[in-house]
Amino acid sequence: MDVPPRPPVSALSSLRARRWFTDEPVGDADLYRVLEAGRWTGSARNRQPWRFVVVRDRGVREELSRLGAYAGHLAAAPVVIVLAADEDTGGEDAQFDAGRAAQNLMLAAHFLGLGSCPASFFPAGNADRAGELCRVTRPWTVRTALSLGHPAPAPTGRSAIPTGRLPLADLVTEI
Ligand SMILES: Cc1cc2nc3c(=O)[nH]c(=O)nc-3n(C[C@H](O)[C@H](O)[C@H](O)COP(=O)(O)O)c2cc1C
Repeated sequence: MDVPPRPPVSALSSLRARRWFTDEPVGDADLYRVLEAGRWTGSARNRQPWRFVVVRDRGVREELSRLGAYAGHLAAAPVVIVLAADEDTGGEDAQFDAGRAAQNLMLAAHFLGLGSCPASFFPAGNADRAGELCRVTRPWTVRTALSLGHPAPAPTGRSAIPTGRLPLADLVTEI
């Protein structure tokens, strides 16, 4: 692209995964606004192949946190939003649509000063158990949840996950 570098749209590019939270509860008004942002996500043929299970119960959050190798932050957050998707109705678009909803939930949280992070449930048996815990039945299935809370600083130390992003030059081709 033959344009000089421009600053990113910082309201969006400043979104980071937050895995550490204070003890402050998430108010119902903020939670409502986050969920509304998810509800208004666009989807293929407007099928809206998602449902959101709000989990505040500590015991359920702790059990969910053991259903993925990197899901520990679900126990640390005061609220977890479990995403259920319907791949029967939504077909191959369902997970794309659910990902868009997740991003809208995360961005709304970010705009409100809250932090969030996805967690993946795996292997498949763990995803099934997450669905059972959240009383999600077929055709709805669960693969992912979001932690949500007031962000706290992460402990110092190196993370195994690389940070930053690839440059646009590595991502974009033009024809
Ligand atoms: C589909 C998906 C699954 C993810 N699963 C996990 C997870 O299980 N545990 C976790 O801590 N982070 C998870 N993440 C968060 C990523 O690690 C995070 O988006 C990435 O490291 C970039 O983080 P940053 O925006 O803070 O740079 C997941 C993200 C996506 C999009």
